[in-house]
Amino acid sequence: HRRLLGIEGLSRDDVTAILDLADRYVAQNRRADKKIDALRGMTQINLFFENSTRTQASFEIAGKRLGADVMNMSLQTSSIKKGETLLDTAATLNAMHPDIIVVRHQHSGAVALLAQKVNCAVVNAGDGRHEHPTQALLDALTIRRRKGRLRRLTVAICGDVAHSRVARSNMILLGLMDNRVRLAAPPTLLPPDVGRYGVEVFHDMEEALEGADVVMMLRLQKERMDGAYVPSQREYFHRYGLDHRKLARARPDAIVMHPGPMNRGVEIDSLVADDIDRSVIAEQVEMGVAVRMAVLDLLARNIRAERAQEAAR
Ligand code: CP
Repeated sequence: HRRLLGIEGLSRDDVTAILDLADRYVAQNRRADKKIDALRGMTQINLFFENSTRTQASFEIAGKRLGADVMNMSLQTSSIKKGETLLDTAATLNAMHPDIIVVRHQHSGAVALLAQKVNCAVVNAGDGRHEHPTQALLDALTIRRRKGRLRRLTVAICGDVAHSRVARSNMILLGLMDNRVRLAAPPTLLPPDVGRYGVEVFHDMEEALEGADVVMMLRLQKERMDGAYVPSQREYFHRYGLDHRKLARARPDAIVMHPGPMNRGVEIDSLVADDIDRSVIAEQVEMGVAVRMAVLDLLARNIRAERAQEAAR
């Protein structure tokens, strides 16, 4: 493949291959000398139409550790501010012969559209409510390392599922790898197509957490609410915020995850977020760099293989 647009379409073997390579990068990233030459001579453009801390920084670090020339473009400093369209922006960047473009966009499907207009590799860094594949992969790596396996686990995904590309990519990946996924959300914060994911739906969070191995919290995405009824923050925290009382329903060794950015006191209590025995939130960030290195490395191998085939013709 020369694209990673979503978890949908990946096989179990694809996921396992990415995680296995990422595991090697975790070890390398803990060494003093972190750089290798896997992307030497390649140009990577990070094109972010929406704000990001973790994803943009980790794609930049990942590309640089692999030896690529990395260029970051953000909405605030680009001609998109002057009205240039997504496709004109894509064509402009494509003319500079990048090898890989990493794209985040506020609209579902925008990254797939852009991928049709460029002839380099494309990675989806989050598009609207659709997918955030590298987030699901880094979550999977965190779970696999902590639990020793990525199958037959009970994972509770809690909160604003309706607006969450993270939840969608995780539901697909965790289902693909034979895990049991439970959603805990108010009816107004569930996606209309929830039936297609083979998940169990709960409106009572404590029931959803009963015996869970993994508790994955989601940010309440106020910027995407589209007029849907949302309870007050106090009411929301009371019913769907994770505190130690609710967490006690999960397994004693259950881990707590959050993709970030967190709304402390809304979907998660600070005492849980900062609980070093349960929270793996910082570890998720570390896994993010390794997973993105693995994805970029595998794409670069495919690009080189294609070029070698073309040269041999
Ligand atoms: N989890 C995540 O995508 O975070 P950022 O929005 O900071 O990239």
